[in-house]
Amino acid sequence: MINVAFVCLGNICRSPMAELIFTQMVKDRELTSSFRITSFGTSDCEEGNPIYPPAKKTLIMHGIPGNHTARHISLKEIINNDYLLVMDSSNLFDMLRLTGGKFGEKIIKLRSFTPNPHDVADPWYTRDFEKAYRDIYEGCECFLEYLLKEKSQMFDYDKRH
Ligand code: 4NP
Repeated sequence: MINVAFVCLGNICRSPMAELIFTQMVKDRELTSSFRITSFGTSDCEEGNPIYPPAKKTLIMHGIPGNHTARHISLKEIINNDYLLVMDSSNLFDMLRLTGGKFGEKIIKLRSFTPNPHDVADPWYTRDFEKAYRDIYEGCECFLEYLLKEKSQMFDYDKRH
């Protein structure tokens, strides 16, 4: 089982988009049983709220269903996840501040798996939900390719048990 958590600030725009995009991508490859996929915010400012409507609309336009309720990241989740994929440098800074600098090896910017590793700009401020979707989609695709190429033993472990 590969435990993946996507992380942004509020957990109502980018990280739930990433959770639902990656969930669909993994399903399309018949890899669902190999993953536990969730998402969180570094802040509790939106805790309990649903996906922000323009983000949800963008997902639906791309044929990606699903819901999410915003949750604040906890130390337990930081410990239990193999990958904590943040959207931007500010999320990375906030996560390392929360952990006191620990677990740095698994707190990674999502787009660092792509050939063009820029931050995923926050559509809460840019209002460009389509660009956020494309940036997140490419990040998820490249992350999955990385796992399949470089971490195949994580999948083999599932097959043995
Ligand atoms: P997210 O976007 O981090 O992608 O979920 C935001 C959501 C809410 C706020 C900021 C960013 N806010 O300031 O409430």
